[in-house]
Amino acid sequence: MTGRSPTLDDVQALDASDPLASFRRRFLLPEGVRYFDGHSLGPLTTGALPAVHQLVLHQWGERLIRSWNEADWIGAPQRIGAKIAPIIGARSDEVIVADSTSVNLFKLLVAAAKLSNRSTILTEAGNFPTDVYIATAAADLMGLRLEAVDRSEIVKRMGQDTNLVLLTHVHFRDSERFDMKDLTIAAREAGARIVWDLSHSAGAVPLQLAEDGVDFAVGCGYKYLNGGPGAPAFLYVARDLQERLTSPLPGWMGHSAPFEFAEDYLPAAGMSRFLAGTPAILSMAALEAGVDTFSGIKMDQLWAKSSMLFDLFSTMISDRCGELECITPEDPLRRGSHIAFRHPQAFQLCQALIEAGIIGDFRAPDVIRFGLTPLYLKFEDVWHAVEQCVAILATEQWRADRFQMRARVT
Ligand SMILES: Cc1ncc(COP(=O)(O)O)c(C=O)c1O
Repeated sequence: MTGRSPTLDDVQALDASDPLASFRRRFLLPEGVRYFDGHSLGPLTTGALPAVHQLVLHQWGERLIRSWNEADWIGAPQRIGAKIAPIIGARSDEVIVADSTSVNLFKLLVAAAKLSNRSTILTEAGNFPTDVYIATAAADLMGLRLEAVDRSEIVKRMGQDTNLVLLTHVHFRDSERFDMKDLTIAAREAGARIVWDLSHSAGAVPLQLAEDGVDFAVGCGYKYLNGGPGAPAFLYVARDLQERLTSPLPGWMGHSAPFEFAEDYLPAAGMSRFLAGTPAILSMAALEAGVDTFSGIKMDQLWAKSSMLFDLFSTMISDRCGELECITPEDPLRRGSHIAFRHPQAFQLCQALIEAGIIGDFRAPDVIRFGLTPLYLKFEDVWHAVEQCVAILATEQWRADRFQMRARVT
């Protein structure tokens, strides 16, 4: 596939020799849809249906409250956390599933900031809004200052006042990725610690949290981990720091002995102290099935296919759709697993593509994103997505105000 734009035969040959092709059977994708939004909401997994069905009808319907023990509902946060651990290069006791990313971020920022008497939380200007909102509130509560600087300034700005650095590893808009290891070392040298938001990294790019000496992280369950809409999120704390932290939301589920109903709060050992209230068991079942779609795969294999999908997408777009400006870094070490383009009518283009069965998403003001999810995407899907872009851009109709800009959840 050199020198000329790939043909359908070319990409079908890639699919025929794809070692990950069989993983697609782990998903129930609707007919007529090519799904490029797994960086926002992973698709329904084949395992979720029977798991939720069995949970509702048998465990809840028949066994009722006995299922907290019999079906180990009570152990779900730790059990699923241990399954997420290898996907992010953590040890099994370093991850727990709970709440949402936003709530986990709040718990972790407040708990981690207490380890130091320094005054500033540093973050990237343009970080995902929830991170900034939560960090602002956490800083206010703790009497700290939140400072947001350009990504190129972050290392330079780390100084004697830096308590924590809050970074989203892969940027939600353009997919740019920080060098986790270098940043972790730089923060350590400055006497600070980093809280990583892995929402666009977990299940997307190879991570080695333990090996890279990462202290803290949170991440999302409903994107690349395929856990279903509003799936619970996860927290990671390096083993040696866990006992030094206390959650600012010390609910009974994070108590060392919740069923003793003690008057005083005594945090549970390890990550369990980050639980607050009763886990959302129905959602946990779908999340566990989502995380199980990664069983038997090495993240390096997944990343190799993601890179091939990216190269195909980016080459075909630059050959065929000059109107779209790729804003995702070409260097594989500097990007995540979605590809983003700028176009003045990105919203309308995105809507026209969705009408044609190609589901990507739009981020204001002018960005269209396509998630490259190797577990279920074929090379052929990319080929059709680009061909569809070419066809739409060649007509004028879609540019009209047919698709009114409106608030959307994608
Ligand atoms: C980087 C990042 N952090 C956090 C979130 C949201 O987290 P939650 O809604 O689970 O609190 C998102 C959602 O898209 C995100 O992209």
